[in-house]
Amino acid sequence: MAVERTLSIIKPDAVAKNVIGEIVSRFEKADLKVVEARMQQLTREEAEGFYAVHKERPFFNDLVEFMISGPVFIQALEGENAIQKNRDLMGATDPKKAEPGTIRADFAESIDANAVHGSDAPETAAVEIAYFFGK
Ligand code: PPS
Repeated sequence: MAVERTLSIIKPDAVAKNVIGEIVSRFEKADLKVVEARMQQLTREEAEGFYAVHKERPFFNDLVEFMISGPVFIQALEGENAIQKNRDLMGATDPKKAEPGTIRADFAESIDANAVHGSDAPETAAVEIAYFFGK
């Protein structure tokens, strides 16, 4: 299976809950390696640019407001099948639908404040990693 990289963001709600370490520990236990990492307060422009693909969706403004409401912890994760593995660890977008034991089931409150972001495909992973960490 291919070694991939994926972008992970620990969102403001999870940072505020002080569970960065618990979440990163789940990545590490699943053999995902943190190869880049930075704590950052996103500007509105950075958040809008990152989520530009969702610009026309009704929740776009709420999502941007939430993502700039506090610092986030941004990482590139590397490992075999990293993109799908991270998605599996995260659980469904809506924590009410997330499998027990997933990050969102354990740490997220709502679909708006859902603890983590993870790239959904190789193309988006490459674009998202470059967006925050360069080539
Ligand atoms: S996904 O993961 O891309 O398939 O999920 P999707 O449903 O397409 O949602 C894209 C991102 O928008 C967030 N989202 C919302 N934010 C606020 N309010 C509502 N109702 C809402 N619905 C979806 C969702 O968490 C995704 O953000 P990221 O950061 O990509 O996880």
